[in-house]
Amino acid sequence: MIHPPQRYIVTSALPYANGPLHIGHLTGAYLSADIYVRMLRMLDNDVAFICGSDEHGAAITIRALKENSTPQAIIDKYHTLFESTFRKAGISFDIYHRTSSALHHETAQEFFRTLYQKEEFLEEESLQYFDKDAGKFLADRYIKGTCPKCSNPDAYGDQCERCGSSLSPLELINPVSTITGTKPELRKTKHWYLPLNKYETWLREWIEGGTVDGAEQHDPSDWKTHVIGQCKSWLDGGLQPRAMTRDLEWGVDVPQEIPGAAGKKLYVWMDAPIGYISATKQWASDQGKNWKDYWQSEDSQLVHFIGKDNIVFHCLIFPSILKAHGDYNLPVNVPANQFLNLEEKKISTSRNWAIWVDEFLTDNPDQTDALRYVLTKNMPEQKDAEFTWKGYQSDVNSDLVGNLANFVQRVMVLTHKYYDGQVPVFDEDEPIVGARGNDEASWHEVEMMDLFDRMWTVQDAICKYEFRNGLKAVLDIASAGNQILQFNEPWKAIKEEPEAVAVVINLCNQYVAALSVAMHPFMPAASARLRTLLALEPLTEQGAWVETMDALANGELLLTDEHQLHEAEHLFARIEDEWVNAQIRKLHDMSKEESTATSVSVKSEAPVKPAISYDDFAKLDIRTARIVEAEKVPKADKLLKLTLEVNGASRTVVSGIAEHYTPEELPGKNVIILANLEPRKIRGVQSEGMILMAESGDGKLHFVQAANDDSGMSIG
Ligand code: 2FM
Ligand code: ZN
Repeated sequence: MIHPPQRYIVTSALPYANGPLHIGHLTGAYLSADIYVRMLRMLDNDVAFICGSDEHGAAITIRALKENSTPQAIIDKYHTLFESTFRKAGISFDIYHRTSSALHHETAQEFFRTLYQKEEFLEEESLQYFDKDAGKFLADRYIKGTCPKCSNPDAYGDQCERCGSSLSPLELINPVSTITGTKPELRKTKHWYLPLNKYETWLREWIEGGTVDGAEQHDPSDWKTHVIGQCKSWLDGGLQPRAMTRDLEWGVDVPQEIPGAAGKKLYVWMDAPIGYISATKQWASDQGKNWKDYWQSEDSQLVHFIGKDNIVFHCLIFPSILKAHGDYNLPVNVPANQFLNLEEKKISTSRNWAIWVDEFLTDNPDQTDALRYVLTKNMPEQKDAEFTWKGYQSDVNSDLVGNLANFVQRVMVLTHKYYDGQVPVFDEDEPIVGARGNDEASWHEVEMMDLFDRMWTVQDAICKYEFRNGLKAVLDIASAGNQILQFNEPWKAIKEEPEAVAVVINLCNQYVAALSVAMHPFMPAASARLRTLLALEPLTEQGAWVETMDALANGELLLTDEHQLHEAEHLFARIEDEWVNAQIRKLHDMSKEESTATSVSVKSEAPVKPAISYDDFAKLDIRTARIVEAEKVPKADKLLKLTLEVNGASRTVVSGIAEHYTPEELPGKNVIILANLEPRKIRGVQSEGMILMAESGDGKLHFVQAANDDSGMSIG
């Protein structure tokens, strides 16, 4: 059965407009959605594919501060970049909107107003960190401190990036304001909370049972296990009221007529996902449609594509907001992806361990579909997955070049060689040696039915959000075609059995034509090129899958007899070792640049300290030195007495490194010292200076060294 046409609203998480997108973002919430949406359109559904830039949030103001810029300039820059990145990547949004638009501000305020008037909020005063020097309450991201779960000293007030725990700023040990470096104080402030605890029962019924108010809404077995698992563990832990507002400077104002609204902004929960609705409003008004048909009518289905960090948001918080409002549909599925690692490490923006999509596609515009292919083949659908450059090379070379493009090329070349590029006329009844076929159906017919089944497998997998399987089923069509050629060896049979060869080549042309359709959701540009080579009309997405399946089901040919093909061309280019090695080198080089830059703080995990003047810095006499001798300090487990050579002179320094180094391994090592630290006696030994050490994540101390090993060089 072909999927019955329906109305859909499909959303991809609105990316924060504060930095470029990497391949992890692309595969997580955008490529997956694009494949799905293209299939929905081909199945003749009425789809609105919605996204836009999330232009609010502390990360944007932080970036503006860091770059000595303004939030407006930052969002303009990244919004424009995102639009072009998505265009280059072939992501076919129906609208790419932005949350700084007036329409969005009005829509989000209206939403808040409705909930306020329905008395869905609790108004509560709570204690929040306030930076006295900066004169403002601190957004969670502006506070750093030690993670209570893993002791990471650089955890943020909302999340620890080392252990992945969600945190509240009050949980941080030794919190520090990242704006001024001072210790913030707790002050009372009023906010509006959504009592999520009130929604626990129906959330559970909806997620685990697929029912809303007793009526069946979806089949829970269609949801990914990791999504259900994460929701269950939150529900089991008990939900708490969540603040829907914050004391911020940049964002959507709480409607000003509400008492106490001055200075308050809508928090991300009441802002970003409402962006899906405001974007739909804009799109519908541009298209002369009614946005409510997509969000509020019974025959419309809502699907959210997100990364796993947004599961709680889209499965618990936003549905509760929609439910509290009352007029909206709930999502029928939230097919979140897990994370993509790069060369066996977590992708990291701050360490520049990433492949930046825009940069890659600008440098390699002809590899868009190769990238889409490899990212889909390795999509983190159920668990975290890996991207490696060697894997990229082998996926492209063996699957796309060696299998798919090779099949297309062989069929087209043979058609030109034997039939002047015209799809050969054939005799249905011509027996094919060793082939399937029976009294009712000829071999050609049986193989065409097989092709129908293969196309069905592609469709079915995509509709179930199993994009890896869907992609494999496309490549299986090419493998099957290659096997047909291999088995029948038309190049040998052409002299003795030309009639049989006509059947085989005709069939293979049908396979190639089907491939041009099957490839489309995954690799739209390559599909378009293939259709040009085949002299077929460009594929207008709407309903195209249904037409192809109908034709196959009715025993019609996709390429009619004597259809004239254009000359054969390679669809994909081989990836050479040299190119791959250059990519690997670039990744490492770029990431090294970043780590040199951050190591300036010597102990990179130290909490941010207040700024000092240049004059204060100039007082430090930092020099290179060489260790000449080292010995233990009696009765002190941590201390070593070191004799150093500085500018040819000798001096003694007591250093707390005995747990990290033995005295024997130290003589000859080059180090850096603070030479003018006031001398003082430590355990009876006069110490004249201090050795600079860097602490790595595992707590080990390492010497800081100069590239040149002369002792006595001054640093500054
Ligand atoms: O986490 C994020 O990237 C936010 N910009 C929110 C994305 S989800 C939203 F759009 F609802
Ligand atoms: Zn942690």
